Amino acid sequence: MEKNYLLGIDIGTSGTRCLVIDEEGNIAGSAIKEYPLYTPKPGWAEQNPQDWYDATLSTIKEVLESNKISGSDVKAIGLSGQMHGSVFLDKDNKVIRPALLWCDQRTEPQCEEIYDIFGYENFIKLSYNKALPGFTSPKIMWLSENEPENYSKVYKVLLPKDYVRFMISGSYATEVSDASGMLLMDIKKRTWSDEILEGLKINRSFLADIYESPEVSAHLDEKTARLTGLVAGTPIVGGGGDNAAGNLGSGIIKQGIISDSIGTSGVVFAHSDKPVYDTQGRLHSFCHAVPGKWHLMGVTLAAAGSQKWYYDTFGPSRAIEKERPDLKKYKLLDAEAQKIKPGSDGLLFLPYLTGERTPYADACARGVFFGMSYMHTQDHFVRSIMEGVAFSQLDCLSLMRELGINSEKIVLIGGGSRSKIWKEIICDIFESPIITLKNEEGPAFGAALLSGVGCGIYKSVEDAVSKAVKQSSEIHPKSENSKIYRKSYEIYKSLYASLKADFKKLYDMQFN
Ligand code: XUL
Repeated sequence: MEKNYLLGIDIGTSGTRCLVIDEEGNIAGSAIKEYPLYTPKPGWAEQNPQDWYDATLSTIKEVLESNKISGSDVKAIGLSGQMHGSVFLDKDNKVIRPALLWCDQRTEPQCEEIYDIFGYENFIKLSYNKALPGFTSPKIMWLSENEPENYSKVYKVLLPKDYVRFMISGSYATEVSDASGMLLMDIKKRTWSDEILEGLKINRSFLADIYESPEVSAHLDEKTARLTGLVAGTPIVGGGGDNAAGNLGSGIIKQGIISDSIGTSGVVFAHSDKPVYDTQGRLHSFCHAVPGKWHLMGVTLAAAGSQKWYYDTFGPSRAIEKERPDLKKYKLLDAEAQKIKPGSDGLLFLPYLTGERTPYADACARGVFFGMSYMHTQDHFVRSIMEGVAFSQLDCLSLMRELGINSEKIVLIGGGSRSKIWKEIICDIFESPIITLKNEEGPAFGAALLSGVGCGIYKSVEDAVSKAVKQSSEIHPKSENSKIYRKSYEIYKSLYASLKADFKKLYDMQFN
């Protein structure tokens, strides 16, 4: 019997994930392929675009073969991926140098130049965003200033998922949500900004055509069909940046719904029916993957990344390993955190391990444990990391609340949502009910739903979400815990202000 399957691909930072779903959102199969991230200098982060393409081909092939899915049952393809990365192609479509990634911090000077060209306030007015080192246009300027020979060869600049689209279809296309993070768009008009392009002297011809996320932007080519088992001509929709696609797939498609995603980075994300302009550009203000809608985003660069750093560096305590031989890895950390009272007996953690985006946009900030005393054990450190990450996400949420963007409940997604204790901490710190989802499958799921809209299986994004996204549980804050956290948060916030100048001195000592 013929089936209607949809295929979503997420070009992530640690690996590429390919997912096949049916019309009701049930998973028919998934496959992951990891690849390396290169750090040739401190603060630099690069990947080889060929790795993304190879991982795309191998995961599609694996998902079809191991689940006995016929290529002809796959009705459409959606792409999503890590945002902001720069793939530089020459006129023969060869990759000129490794791609600079979203977490690469080398372009601080180019961000300053952007403000010199346009004026700080005027630039935020034009782009609705601050110039941040992770974004794409400063990367293009960096290439022109530091590798002029490479720059002279540039024919196209593509985002990670759009490079993969080109490789599997031959089309240069992007879509509004990911393109927003290039810092070259008129966010209100949902198209490239001539004024920004002219000011930065960036050629319009470098850029791909912009589509809305569910629109068909390309068709699968013969070669990819032969290599994967899919059918040539299968439509490929615009798709979305990983945050927009992941949130669409979690049902964040209406005004008044906010999500918190605890992955390597932590993201507070709000849907908005209108483009939101904050004169200080403290939140990212981007187009949503829902046609004609926008979203706001606040980013903590090291969320679960802080926990991973702690685990890789110190590991679980010997005591907990003995007590709970049934548990593994992060479950052991959960059991440690569970032993400690809210507030971690006065131990505070600032999660600025790789600088911070929201609310400070400060590449020099660094991680801090504050308030250590003889009484603190490893368990305290583990809990204080969870609390510190939640405080940092509260910084993002508070900015949204300040701009009048509210939500009765918050949908918690990402790896952190699977930790009961972290979920409770976030709930008490946000002082908001928290919902989790039954089938939270990340950006590849949202991309697959978008492809279903593009090929007509769903009438609209809203129709797709109502058929495929299912809520699971809801928890409520405990006021006695929230009271304690309110006091800790006051100290947490004042610590950055006290340390700002010293963070800069430390940074200069290391890098200048
Ligand atoms: C968003 C951002 C990250 C990457 C990670 O602005 O930089 O969330 O998209 O994949």
